[in-house]
Amino acid sequence: MRLYIDSADVKKIEYLNTYYPIAGVTTNPSIIVKENRPYLELLKDIRAAIGDEKELFVQVIGDTAEEMVEESKYIRNQLTGNIVMKIPVTEEGIRAIKLLTADNIPTLATTIYTSFQALVAAMAGAKFVAPYVNRMDNLTIDGVKVVSEIAALYKNYGIETEILAASFKNVQQVYDVCLAGAQTVTVGPDLIEKFIAFPATENDVQVFKTEWQKVYGLDKNSLVGS
Ligand code: E4P
Repeated sequence: MRLYIDSADVKKIEYLNTYYPIAGVTTNPSIIVKENRPYLELLKDIRAAIGDEKELFVQVIGDTAEEMVEESKYIRNQLTGNIVMKIPVTEEGIRAIKLLTADNIPTLATTIYTSFQALVAAMAGAKFVAPYVNRMDNLTIDGVKVVSEIAALYKNYGIETEILAASFKNVQQVYDVCLAGAQTVTVGPDLIEKFIAFPATENDVQVFKTEWQKVYGLDKNSLVGS
């Protein structure tokens, strides 16, 4: 499983990238505008925070395939490193995915609500698809079930497109899509921090330390030598 940060908050990205096994960062227009900064400068700061190797996902806003392709080329020229263009699964988006794929530009098909959209996007050449789990759940479409159907379809057809599940509001949804066959997930900072938080763990660590100190004292060098 690969984990992406779904955020454009540079400070949080720096922190999470230091502490967690992070594969990259995903953004969308709503995430970018929250930072209220010139967007290219912001994207460059995100790139600096994660380095050139890790993937940075940037979404187009154009209506036509030509506009999406033009934006994609512009963004990729302005930024360094591994950039994946996020393209919505509209008819124009599917055409853009075909054009970008023919040009060796990696794409993620976004705003996925049905497994058939994911199949068509993969056939067009998308490297990733992003099913919107919580947004589906809010429409009484079972988001986790859609992820497992996409995984089954890709297996049936030997498709290598990866499922990058997105839109989560709780850790259970993230866990369930991992079991359902998503290779990757993108999750907001607040939820990532909840992945490992567990009171019993904190308690155990404290008990181990207290017991140790009863015998060996409070000297920090009692384990590593002085
Ligand atoms: C990811 O790339 C999506 O744009 C994002 O996860 C949507 O999440 P939301 O439904 O919480 O806005």
